[in-house]
Amino acid sequence: MTKTVYLQRHGAIAVLLIANPPVNALSAEVIAGLAAALDAFEADRSYAAFLVHCEGRTFVAGGDITTFDDPKFSTSLYNRTLARLEALDRPVAAVLHGSVLGGGMELALSCHYRVATPRTQFGMPEVKLGILPGSLGTQRLPRLIGVALALDLIASGRMIDSGAALKAGIVDEVTEGVPLDVGLDFAKVLIAGLAEPRRISAQKVSPDSVPADFFTQALDDAARRKAFYPSARNIVLAVQASMLPFAEGEAIEARLFEELRVSPESKAMRHLFFAERQAAKIPGLKKDVLLRTIASVGIVGAGTMGGGIAMNFANAGIPTVLIETSQAALDRGLGLVRSNYEASAAKGRLTSAEVEQRMALLRGSLDDTALADCDLVIEAVFENMDLKRQVCARLGKVCKPGAIIATNTSTLDVDVLAEATGRPADVVGMHFFSPANVMRLLEVVRGAKTSPDVLATVMQVAHKIGKVAVVSGVCYGFIGNRMAEVYMREAEFLMMEGARPAEIDGAVEGLGMAMGPCRMLDMAGIDVGAKTVIEYGKAGGLPPDDSYRAVVQKLFELGRFGQKTGAGYYAYDGRKPVADPETVRISQALAAAHGIEQRSDIGKQEIIERLLYPLINEGAKILEEGIAYRPGDIDIVWTAGYGFPDHQGGPLWMADRIGLTAIAERLSHYAKVRGNPFGYWTVSPLLTSLAQSDLRLSDWQAS
Ligand code: 3HC
Ligand code: NAI
Repeated sequence: MTKTVYLQRHGAIAVLLIANPPVNALSAEVIAGLAAALDAFEADRSYAAFLVHCEGRTFVAGGDITTFDDPKFSTSLYNRTLARLEALDRPVAAVLHGSVLGGGMELALSCHYRVATPRTQFGMPEVKLGILPGSLGTQRLPRLIGVALALDLIASGRMIDSGAALKAGIVDEVTEGVPLDVGLDFAKVLIAGLAEPRRISAQKVSPDSVPADFFTQALDDAARRKAFYPSARNIVLAVQASMLPFAEGEAIEARLFEELRVSPESKAMRHLFFAERQAAKIPGLKKDVLLRTIASVGIVGAGTMGGGIAMNFANAGIPTVLIETSQAALDRGLGLVRSNYEASAAKGRLTSAEVEQRMALLRGSLDDTALADCDLVIEAVFENMDLKRQVCARLGKVCKPGAIIATNTSTLDVDVLAEATGRPADVVGMHFFSPANVMRLLEVVRGAKTSPDVLATVMQVAHKIGKVAVVSGVCYGFIGNRMAEVYMREAEFLMMEGARPAEIDGAVEGLGMAMGPCRMLDMAGIDVGAKTVIEYGKAGGLPPDDSYRAVVQKLFELGRFGQKTGAGYYAYDGRKPVADPETVRISQALAAAHGIEQRSDIGKQEIIERLLYPLINEGAKILEEGIAYRPGDIDIVWTAGYGFPDHQGGPLWMADRIGLTAIAERLSHYAKVRGNPFGYWTVSPLLTSLAQSDLRLSDWQAS
């Protein structure tokens, strides 16, 4: 057929074998191979059935996303080929294993019968790429399982397992075994039973199967929940079209799909898909580097972060010991972990047996020699250099040779801590984000002496515990917090100049940020933020500017620690932020004290530019200093760790859309109107040179 598709005879069964590693994505070659196989099958009446099977670890996991930017991309050839497959006059079956996703599901739905192996995952994840199933998934799935469940699956992009797929009627049977054998046995039974072709496209969706206002409601939900995603709306419209005759629905799906494929939102989300996978790759690392085995973990400090970090390992089935200084602290830490698990169980996400299994993997100790057998030890004690140095020195002695020692510091110098252990090659930063059991991002900080196998092992561990890991070099705040610092700086200057927290947050939330800077710091803790600034000042890192981050320091002094004390940038009604005249007074007083002129003309655009353009500028500095390997890594840090909207593709992707020349001009504009004695507005050399050459940040590569 083609190099990726073969037609093999197994008695009276024609087996279509797709072999397009790694995930059998549908490429033009696979589609051409399928068409050629159909020609051969149609011409040979000695075949009694057609079986679709994929080689390797998975069935087709989707359309080939790398081809979606091709201006000539079209789903029409694939759709016509699927129509031919469905129209065959002898039974067509698919044997499903691995991940049956997107275009793979659409291939399976074009078959007459489906059998799956037990651990198969099913889904229509297109929404996560800002598109919709474009090969009749929106038309066939509702016909097969009903509109409500089909819309739920397509709109959420969530996956279901074989059991749920069987219950929903997506598969006819679930059978343990080698996929090809399972498929052949299944096809033989079809032949023996004289099974007739069964075509989903011939079925109808009854308009009475859902309430009359079902789609109006669904459109409202889409606009509310996924306000920034045109795909959410188009998905509802496409599924609604499944009520029409098949050909009409097909035309509507095609139009809605194409609208999304060329949309900036989808391009941004596709960029993130590949950036996330790229981030896992470490330039210059030899492929054959031998990874260290991580079968047990130790965590020092069972506070906010230590407990959350421990949950990640327990969730992955890795025994973990937590070390504390007092029984009370240990009990508090483990108690919090248990209550987190119990909250998940109450929501039906875990069974009580699973809660107990996970708790059984966690053990506490007041004696740090309990760490002697651990393969990986992560320190998560208070953010204080002297304390962390002492803890690291002790870990250097207690941990067995070959164990990895990691620090969860947010800002401190990983190289200094590495030296304190006396074995810096074993040391790496593992910067989790709060809440550590929820947030997907993990910044992996490579120290000057971190050995390549330590780095590679930690990247693999990150994948195992479900994190998206990005490597950062050593600098204040690493990638994320270093960029957040300039963002917070401007938020506070804007406040002192007269903008209200709600105006500041509203401006960036209007772009899709999960939370503006004031709400974010109120949640993370003003005390945490202020202490970091104060410590950085002590270490000589701050500019000689008395007004720098004056607001957070004042709020800290006044005991306004944010949500936890009921007041910070906002006042709190439970967890709901409300405008607080007191913050306005504080900002006015600070402005007067620092000679900052208050204005009433601060608009939304100025807020956006002043918050985001310095952040982008800092990102460019991080690239040219070699702190981040690639622009996409920075985009992943901000989307996975700081609630930056994925439909904007991350700050650097967004910068390219705005235009680097425009950004450089606005930075220079603010240098003029705000003054630039401390270099806040100086355009980075990289941004300047890319803007001058009309190049994009996203295309930048380290030389
Ligand atoms: N197209 C092209 N490449 C793909 C791909 C796809 N659909 N899915 C995965 N890949 C590539 C990855 O980029 C990666 O490449 P790399 O090794 O060069 O970095 C490689 O395959 C392996 O992928 P992962 O690292 O993600 O492997 P995992 O085992 O962790 O996960 C997976 C496998 C669950 C299949 C995951 O890759 C995944 O979720 N893929 C995307 C699935 C998807 O979104 N499908 C829908 C596509 S859109 C579509 O089908 C449109 C249709 O309706 C017309
Ligand atoms: P925390 O104050 O909640 O917990 C620290 C814990 O360490 C306390 O329970 C304390 O008893 C324990 N501890 C102190 N000295 C110890 C020692 N010698 N041995 C064993 N235990 C000891 O602090 P939190 O917020 O968990 O922070 C821990 C680290 O994580 C810090 O480095 C912080 O910068 C970092 N971090 C914090 C984030 C946050 O949002 N809270 C986010 C990312 C990193």
